[in-house]
Amino acid sequence: MTRVFSGIQPTGEPHIGNYFGAMRNYVRLGEQYGQNAIYCIVDLHAPTNPLAYDPAQLSRLTFEMALANMAVGLDPQKVLFFVQSQVREHSELSWLFTVSTPVGELERMTQYKDKAGKLESIPAGLLMYPVLMAADILLYKADTVPVGEDQTQHIELAREIARRFNHSYGDTFPEPKAVLEQGALRVPGMDGHGKMGKSKGESSTLGLLESMDSIWTKLRVAPTDPARVRRTDPGNPEICLVFDYHKLFSDDQTVLEVADGCRTAGIGCIDCKKRLMVGIERELTPIQARAAELRQRPGTVLDGLHYGAEQARAIAAPVMEEVRGKMGFLNRG
Ligand code: TYM
Repeated sequence: MTRVFSGIQPTGEPHIGNYFGAMRNYVRLGEQYGQNAIYCIVDLHAPTNPLAYDPAQLSRLTFEMALANMAVGLDPQKVLFFVQSQVREHSELSWLFTVSTPVGELERMTQYKDKAGKLESIPAGLLMYPVLMAADILLYKADTVPVGEDQTQHIELAREIARRFNHSYGDTFPEPKAVLEQGALRVPGMDGHGKMGKSKGESSTLGLLESMDSIWTKLRVAPTDPARVRRTDPGNPEICLVFDYHKLFSDDQTVLEVADGCRTAGIGCIDCKKRLMVGIERELTPIQARAAELRQRPGTVLDGLHYGAEQARAIAAPVMEEVRGKMGFLNRG
């Protein structure tokens, strides 16, 4: 039986990297697997990075992230959708994995190295972050994990944690596999440097729920092929950020036309960006309309999450019983 699990952090506004790299995939797999598709707003991960965490904002961002996923099409009545901190077993299993995970394996994680490199004092939680991720997935014995490419190393570690546990205590967990959205492995940020990321600040991201005016303000000045100094210079779409976004938002015909227009200097960068706006508007407007509608009835979002947490606990509790038993803890009776 396939069981899907994925998580998304409430550390900022959801952006089009999250959308194309992960959220769309959640909906697609949700349609296929129903209640065996489990999605979680992973708020316990948020405080591990002091640069991205503000206690005054956490509950709002958690709510907004839930709302955005529902606006994209996640239906808490059909899939299992909840907030991580409302299911205590995540923390417990995370600790039980922590006790036997070698520190050296955690120190090798590239995301850890990137984030730790920006901090004067490194919280232990940042190092343990992928252990909590493994607990998230394995608590539900999930085997399929839709994520962007930046998470594949963490999923590899989750496999290792599952293997180690099975070896020590007998066959218990599946070895989960990452499922990548091939066209959107690593959506680049607006600044043209690296991937789009929630914690990199709003100038680098195109928000899923951002107004078209604000998106255009950013897009208008976004870098293109630096060799195209004048309108009449031919360009290379393959090194242009705007063309990367065309491949996500525009239809095949438009993608071909702008690529050709760029190479032959038949289209200027501003016109190319205006054509991109057509695709962006087509894709995001219905999502934003659903988000606005859901915002009018916050109870629907909160009730959906509450219902999801109850169902998640019903799956998690017997798995924890099994784990405690295998590890030798005294039965509560
Ligand atoms: P997070 O919140 O950073 O991102 C959520 C999902 O969006 C994907 N993503 C991207 N995909 C393509 N291009 C981008 N620019 C881009 N930016 C983000 C991420 O790969 C991710 O799939 N550690 C996870 C959250 C997590 C989790 C889990 C995931 C916690 N527990 C268990 C899977 C299973 C994270 O920080 O995602």
